Amino acid sequence: MECIGDDVLKRTHTCGQLRETDIDTEVRLCGWVRSYRDHGGVVFIDLRDREGLTQVVFDLPAESDDAAAEMYKLARALRNEWVIAAGGRVRHRGADRINPKLPTGRIEVLGASLTLLNRSDTVPFEPDEFGNVAEETRLKYRYIDLRRPALAQALVLRHKVCKTMRDVLDAKGFLEIETPFLTKSTPEGARDFLVPSRMQQGEFYALPQSPQLFKQILMIGGLDKYFQIVRCFRDEDLRADRQPEFTQLDVEMAFVCEDDIIDMTTDVLRAVCALADRPFPDEVRRISYAEAMDAYGTDRPDMRYEMLLHDVGEIVADCEFKVFSGAVASGGLVKALAAPGGGAFTRKVIDGYTDFAIEYGAKGLAWCKLADGAFTGTPAKFLSQPVQAKLREVCGASDGDIIFFVADTPAKTNRVLGALRNKLGADMNLYDDRAFAWCWVTDWPLVEWNEDQQRWDSLHHPFTSPRPEDVEKLDSDPGSATARAYDIVCNGVELGGGSIRIHNSGVQQKMFSLLGISAEDAQDRFGFLLDALRFGAPPHGGIALGLDRIVMMLCGAASLREVIAFPKTQRGTCPLTDAPAAVDDKQLAELNLKIIAPPTS
Ligand code: AMO
Ligand code: AMP
Repeated sequence: MECIGDDVLKRTHTCGQLRETDIDTEVRLCGWVRSYRDHGGVVFIDLRDREGLTQVVFDLPAESDDAAAEMYKLARALRNEWVIAAGGRVRHRGADRINPKLPTGRIEVLGASLTLLNRSDTVPFEPDEFGNVAEETRLKYRYIDLRRPALAQALVLRHKVCKTMRDVLDAKGFLEIETPFLTKSTPEGARDFLVPSRMQQGEFYALPQSPQLFKQILMIGGLDKYFQIVRCFRDEDLRADRQPEFTQLDVEMAFVCEDDIIDMTTDVLRAVCALADRPFPDEVRRISYAEAMDAYGTDRPDMRYEMLLHDVGEIVADCEFKVFSGAVASGGLVKALAAPGGGAFTRKVIDGYTDFAIEYGAKGLAWCKLADGAFTGTPAKFLSQPVQAKLREVCGASDGDIIFFVADTPAKTNRVLGALRNKLGADMNLYDDRAFAWCWVTDWPLVEWNEDQQRWDSLHHPFTSPRPEDVEKLDSDPGSATARAYDIVCNGVELGGGSIRIHNSGVQQKMFSLLGISAEDAQDRFGFLLDALRFGAPPHGGIALGLDRIVMMLCGAASLREVIAFPKTQRGTCPLTDAPAAVDDKQLAELNLKIIAPPTS
């Protein structure tokens, strides 16, 4: 490999930087050949780096100029994704060659020097071919995919978001403190990733699902105002907005109430949204968990549009349509939503929504179209005129609309109709894609009954404090105790959640026992916390924001994989490195581990 002089590599600008104000400047650029066009007598190279594209032009030189002829020959030989350094003078593009879509589209560099820094094999795909390439392939050749401007821009924004978070919190007197990755399980509701210990054979570390307990211990240690941009690990089934390792902005403060955490978070989010030129409201709406479930059927309400759910149980309790009256009689919930203009839905479209509802666990989806003051559809003939009038009024429906009904257990009715609302919202373009609708969901129940396991589960985590006046309910009526918890939701996505914590060892013990964790088990798993709570634990609380999700929202990306440099696939694999992978027998022997049931495939 020839030695390349320093001067060749010294860039004067990035490929996204040059403008008309730079005309006549001598510049030097380095980058990748995004495309080449040989027009016989003139060669156009689009040169790309992470900041953008610049057109470099090489004109056919005079016959006597050997060096220029050599350079022109090299320019003609360049191929996509080869790496070059090019120098020359900035000039106006010809009027017919202006590209108004490109920030650098009014200028070009007239090539005066050209160095080939490296060739590239024919790439498996062009970075710009985004839509046509299987994601698995893009992840396998992530270094090529990373050259895609949208992905590079997402990572640039991610960097800025992190920096802004750090700046805002630093200005407020927060400290960034690291907490261990090799640790013990923290219950956040997912399975742990385990790491076998070589030195303590037969024992395992758990990778943290969050730094929850460490940040509480930091408060007890007097290191008030902690934050960390930290990786969390959760072995759970993956979706577009879930990764097995993801990043949180994790925050904890001592001597605070809910509003202090909410105000701090608001300041962080406002600054972060400004980076992407996205609006952030002066006052974020607060909605209680109960209201959210009632009107939206979910604890993550999408407030970009109305089309609310309505409990119509009382109205239809005595009607002849057994699907409705039967559900009410057996303690179920009948809810309805009116889709404006849905009277025009064809049978096929309605059947599609019925299938969707059934996928979400409904037994069916009843509907009535409203036209000429009357209802049509299966339930219509069983609904008297006064019932129809009442439904129309409660659902805010009018002629031309369709009302969808689900009758089931309260949890299922809400789940199905909530999901249908989201789908209709998207299908019917009920909101502006660029709109951001934020809300805080507050007043969460502390626990919910798990029918399958016949026990209480925390809605957040076991360290969340009940309201002081509800502590007694832990014994008498746990289901009615309210937690001091809050979630921040944007456009139906949970971007963060937190709570004021239990800071009293006795209450924490009581909480564990309510969740069916025996005193012995609690001591074994969380003894260090229970101990620490007895040594001067201040009142404290905090929150964690999903960094990946925030960047995804700000970019308008459809998947977390579009905002993470090296994400995992839906199957938890990394096609670039082929992780996870088998380890050799020697490594297993060192850990005193044996694979007892090797995978069959
Ligand atoms: P929680 O479990 O709600 O709270 O997590 C906080 C935020 O992290 C994001 N998030 C995820 N992002 C991508 N992939 C995942 N698998 C994933 N799981 C969660 C979400 C979520 O709102 N220790 C508590 C916080 C606290 O109480 O302070 C916790 O971890 O945006
Ligand atoms: P069926 O009585 O099962 O023939 O259903 C009559 C209509 O009611 C069909 O349109 C079903 O999709 C709908 N339906 C059935 N069960 C439910 C339910 N639990 N909630 C809402 N609609 C239902």
